[in-house]
Amino acid sequence: MADKKIFGVTALFNNPDAIISAARKVADSGFTKWDVNSPYPLHGIDKAMKMKPSTLGFVTLVFGLTGVAVALFFMWWTMSVDYPMVIGGKPYFSLPAFIPVTFEVTVIMATVSSVVAMFAFFFGLPRNAHALHDTEYLKKVSRDHFGIIIESDDPKFDERSTQELLKSLNPISTEIIYYPEKERYPIFEPRFLVFLFGVAVVVSIGTYLMLNKLMYIQPFNWMDEQQKIIPQSKSEFFSDERGMRLPVEGTVARGFIPYPFAGDKEPKEVLSNPYFPTKENLELGQRKFLTYCSPCHGNYADGDSRLQGQFPNPPTLHSDRARNFPDGMIYHIITNGQNIMPSYASQVTREERWAIVHYIRVLQRAKNASESDVKFAKSE
Ligand code: HEC
Repeated sequence: MADKKIFGVTALFNNPDAIISAARKVADSGFTKWDVNSPYPLHGIDKAMKMKPSTLGFVTLVFGLTGVAVALFFMWWTMSVDYPMVIGGKPYFSLPAFIPVTFEVTVIMATVSSVVAMFAFFFGLPRNAHALHDTEYLKKVSRDHFGIIIESDDPKFDERSTQELLKSLNPISTEIIYYPEKERYPIFEPRFLVFLFGVAVVVSIGTYLMLNKLMYIQPFNWMDEQQKIIPQSKSEFFSDERGMRLPVEGTVARGFIPYPFAGDKEPKEVLSNPYFPTKENLELGQRKFLTYCSPCHGNYADGDSRLQGQFPNPPTLHSDRARNFPDGMIYHIITNGQNIMPSYASQVTREERWAIVHYIRVLQRAKNASESDVKFAKSE
């Protein structure tokens, strides 16, 4: 026995309260290489042991953030700088489209790095077995006992005094655990290697048959392999050798009519309404006004917002100023926004904007009706 190396000293307890107070005392004595074993999680044991939070979380955080940065940078570089990708005319750097990939790369970087860090630093490899394996102690603490083990490589460890300390905690028993004489679970056991080799052979042959013989019966022509120029392929026809062409300057989407005064603060010129105030257009304008404008401007454009002060109230649209706006000026404000009022160009289409303008004219006339309007209505 004398030449065996001590792994540590254990003490067994038979109830959770005893182990928690024992753990508190061991922590107070300044030991650092020790542990508590229990058949189930013990509430408050980490505090009693004065355990610090695991540093693994930092590894995960750092690599997760690296994932975000790498994914966004890589997509930005490849998709908008190195080889601008034309996808239905959408912006080259389109954050919403990049979110799924960013998410995936973040999760993969965070999880893979955590696992790698665990293997590399946290598991204590290449040690592949633990001295506690197969001991009576471990069997008991997996069943109905609670144990403390103080390891011999703790700087404060001393065979006799450590054992005395544990005895002073009133355990049911204490025990010295020795390192096993020979390695218990050699990794490179020939039987295991043969097994691995067998698995590799079966998987390779299976995959080969699946992909080459069963999935498609020859002769078979994948569309993938037909001769054509695809977005990423090279074309000798053009001097820049890109198969995919960038849109020529000034290209607009089909059906989209660009607004010539976009961004002008004080437009010198405005458009006139290209649509007639038909019943359909007025109904469309009313619907869109009630949806997009009335939360701030009120149902009748009086500037009586429903937002309870969450956004500054707009002025009434029945002012002389607003009544004297040409149609195109109201269109301009909806398209561009005005001061704190944001642009609605992305929510309301061109046609809907002109319809809203017609509807605002209806509201303005209704609140400022003249004698002739009333007569006109009567005579009908
Ligand atoms: C988020 C609240 C909000 C919404 C929604 C909103 N507006 Fe406004 N609007 C304002 C505010 C605030 C002003 C005053 C801006 C300023 O200080 O010049 C304003 C100003 C205006 C003016 C100019 C009035 C003037 O006398 O200068 C017009 C016209 C107008 N809005 C039309 C609309 C239309 C049409 C819609 C719907 C497409 C709409 N607004 C949606 C808040 C809003």
